[in-house]
Amino acid sequence: MRAFLVVVTLIFMAIAAPRMAAQKVELSIDTSKPGAKIDGNLFGQFAEHLGHGIYDGIWVGSDSKIPNTRGIRNDVVAALKVIHVPNVRWPGGCFADGYHWRDGIGPQRVVRLNPDWGGVIEPNTFGTHEFMDFIDQIGSEAYVSVNLGSGSPQEAADWLEYMTAAQATTLEKERAANGHPAPYKVAWLGLGNESWDCGGNMTPEYYLDRMKSFSHFVRNYNPGQMEKDQMLKIAVGPGGGEQRWTDWTETVMKAYQQHTWSWDINGLSMHSYTVVKWPPAFKSVGFGEDEYAQILKTTLDMDDLIKKHSAIMDKYDPQKKVALVVDEWGGWYAPLPGSNPGFLVQQNSLRDAILAALNLNIFARHADRVRGANIAQMINVLQAMILTDHEKMVLTPTYYVYKMYVPFQDSTYVPVTFDAGSYKYGDFTLPRVDAMAAKSKDGKLWVEITNVDPHQAAEVELNVSGINAKSASGETLTAPKVDSVNTFEAPNTVIPKPISARAQGGRLILQLEPKSVTVVSVEQ
Ligand code: AHR
Repeated sequence: MRAFLVVVTLIFMAIAAPRMAAQKVELSIDTSKPGAKIDGNLFGQFAEHLGHGIYDGIWVGSDSKIPNTRGIRNDVVAALKVIHVPNVRWPGGCFADGYHWRDGIGPQRVVRLNPDWGGVIEPNTFGTHEFMDFIDQIGSEAYVSVNLGSGSPQEAADWLEYMTAAQATTLEKERAANGHPAPYKVAWLGLGNESWDCGGNMTPEYYLDRMKSFSHFVRNYNPGQMEKDQMLKIAVGPGGGEQRWTDWTETVMKAYQQHTWSWDINGLSMHSYTVVKWPPAFKSVGFGEDEYAQILKTTLDMDDLIKKHSAIMDKYDPQKKVALVVDEWGGWYAPLPGSNPGFLVQQNSLRDAILAALNLNIFARHADRVRGANIAQMINVLQAMILTDHEKMVLTPTYYVYKMYVPFQDSTYVPVTFDAGSYKYGDFTLPRVDAMAAKSKDGKLWVEITNVDPHQAAEVELNVSGINAKSASGETLTAPKVDSVNTFEAPNTVIPKPISARAQGGRLILQLEPKSVTVVSVEQ
């Protein structure tokens, strides 16, 4: 009898589950109290010489059968143009602190090994000119990280002169002879990468001394960047929340407070991956609700990390002149079976789309201090936008989140209040929903709502004060399972679909699927 009752109960639950009443959520949006500008650079990308991030992912060479423009894949360029990539950080990562720019210019490239990432051959066929061509083709800006680890201030200074000088110096003439007479624009300059680890295992004090020297000697000579569009220098910052990292932020920011005319920084980088524990062991596909809940719970730590380091920055820089730039972040999982572990190959699931939305919303809420972020990494590495395999290309769920968030680039934050409720799984309790709103450059109100709960739909009531909201429509992204992915064979499993709000008694009601990311614009 007992067994019979258990079976009947389970059958009932199975039938009832999909029909569970939608959770009601009231979102109040006050357009009369705009907040900080959401810098477009929060949607930056990171492309390192790592695995197939550059070679095959971007660069195939001009004699390839894969359609390309001067060696750069046309399919990848077309896809990236759609998401309006504001800047691309290059050439690393750990790779940057062993990179010698002269290896990658001119007709004779220096062939080396890539000791950081799989010990494979680095042909240097993709160098400065190819990177700048790529940036130009996708309509983005260059965020170049100079080698502060194994390089010298002079080497980095020469690279900047080579890229940016307009007067007839020897380096300027060399650049012109290599095919580019006009100076390049270097919008952002990274002064090293993870100098506390792969960038040279430095103490904060030692890094600070080296960084000041690089900051002084590495000059941008582009005449177009003298008055406006000045190059932003980003110092290495923390990689976590423990004392080792707060000490690092303290050391750099305290020095910044006392800085003299001869050195300056405009940003402090922060790296934070959603990994749970090292070495990365969580699966990127083929996981269940436990790993869904744990990864998303962990990713929310980004908020505390930003608060912790922002508080230190506020002490020494209350005017918030120095931006916090989260220039490496994203989900980092176990390498896909059969792949080279040094290539950091992973799939990208609906969970990653939700992870991306939650983090982008955190950045937006801290937009007064966080003015740059670069997801790791753009193609074929970690939480990628795009996966390629020879001539094949597929867009990931994360790509679609970036596409849906385009209107938030350079928008103005608008406060949203709501009772998030909670979603529980085992030991993990998370807010059930997350939301963010902003006014785009054209004055339109955009609202993002993430329904984290994988089982329960959400009925969202939008209450907008300050405007006469008549309707709302946009796109929603969900999929059958938390680990649904797009593959070369089935590229449309996780793609956005249209959604619109129902007007009811002067209110706008949106029905959101479980485990979904939704962006709508409000019409008045
Ligand atoms: O993104 C992969 C690596 O992670 C980067 O090279 C390094 O900066 C970080 O540790």
